[in-house]
Amino acid sequence: MSFEFFAPCPRGLETALAAELAETAQRRLPPGALEVGADVPGGVHFRGNWAGGMAANLHSRIASRVLLKIAQRPYRSEQDIYALAAEQRWEQWFTPNETLRVDITAIKSPLRSLEFATLRVKDAICDRMRSKAGARPSVDTAYPDVRVFAFLTASDCTLYLDTSGEPLFKRGWRLDKGAAPLRENLAAGILRLTGWTPGTPLYDPMCGSGTFLAEAAQVALDIAPGLSRSFGFERLKQVDTAAWRYLKSEANTARNTAQNRTSGLHIYGSDISDVMLERARANFARAGFGNVPLKQIDARNMTPPEDAPGILVANPPYGERIEVRGRNARGEARPSRDRDDAEEGFRRAQTDADAPDAEFFQALGDALKQRFTGWRAFVLTSDRKLPGQLRLRESAKTPLYNGALECRLFRFDLIAGSVRQRPAQDNANPGQNA
Ligand SMILES: C[S@@+](CC[C@H](N)C(=O)[O-])C[C@H]1O[C@@H](n2cnc3c(N)ncnc32)[C@H](O)[C@@H]1O
Repeated sequence: MSFEFFAPCPRGLETALAAELAETAQRRLPPGALEVGADVPGGVHFRGNWAGGMAANLHSRIASRVLLKIAQRPYRSEQDIYALAAEQRWEQWFTPNETLRVDITAIKSPLRSLEFATLRVKDAICDRMRSKAGARPSVDTAYPDVRVFAFLTASDCTLYLDTSGEPLFKRGWRLDKGAAPLRENLAAGILRLTGWTPGTPLYDPMCGSGTFLAEAAQVALDIAPGLSRSFGFERLKQVDTAAWRYLKSEANTARNTAQNRTSGLHIYGSDISDVMLERARANFARAGFGNVPLKQIDARNMTPPEDAPGILVANPPYGERIEVRGRNARGEARPSRDRDDAEEGFRRAQTDADAPDAEFFQALGDALKQRFTGWRAFVLTSDRKLPGQLRLRESAKTPLYNGALECRLFRFDLIAGSVRQRPAQDNANPGQNA
């Protein structure tokens, strides 16, 4: 049986997700199980059978969810949406014993209240279940067994049954987070955009809880991102359990084979905060890869972790939520060992009397120019003036969204003798990098 699926993802990563799904289809499944369709703003459509949908859940590092399309029809009112939802055979998928949550996303919908529309979808499903299965499911917005998503455009309503459960960026092993951890699927998508492949040195000098490093280690060790978690589809009635057992055992075999094969990961991290590094270590231990070297240093004093050039990736402190630390030292590391200070230090200091962030970024740019010849550096930031602050000219910039925050992924090619520098006065021209 063939279904239509939609895999949403962080905006800016649609093409990367389509490529990843195509790889999953080729490597793990019989022909036709997963056929990648169009990528549209916010996600990728694909067709396939249950094995395809389950494989996308198990193997996608970039998707936020995998949604199974149930129905689509033009609508004008909440009543039309109720009618569409009430016609669907929900009783085929779950029982009234499962708890339910409904969410609606809309673009240019003419409806006045999305809250009311959400209630109508919920009512329609509950009414249908009562008439066909004898009871209404209860609503649980916090930990539902089953999630239904409705997507409204100006003219059409599409209903989806969620097959993922918890969003896919939750890999199931991260407990310790930093003050502003990247979502795992955004980090995984960025890694793909950098072109990094296992064996190439990878370094994050402001690694925090280690999201980039963890995602890279899992790629290098062929650890399927969903191997340590459960999925919403496991609670649905029509799941192909034999296919699921096969997919999981195949993923376990791939991980065991890669672990025996890998001599070194060539993945390195550092951060100024010992607390963050402890969290990263605890996370890595839980995830099953303890051999990622982590150092406590100020990024201004960073040096390449290997002789061979590689890829540097970072999302530095930014704006109001996270502050650059070690400023007092004006270029010298003064790593904090005090836990309370470390926790609080992530928040922007009220008094900004020390060296401004600009000084930190200029020193960071100098470190890149002077010590990272041959490397490619990728920096994710919401600050479009970053290249000016680093005094480096970017080779590329990719718009990406970190949640609702519009960011750029800047790429700097630190080629010997031709590092593209930019004059300091570029700082004064905020429009330049828009
Ligand atoms: C936005 S967070 C990075 C989050 C990380 N990508 C993650 O997923 O957890 C910025 C990090 O920069 C670190 N940091 C701040 N100032 C630093 C400095 N001078 N040198 C090195 N790291 C610094 C902070 O400790 C924090 O962990």
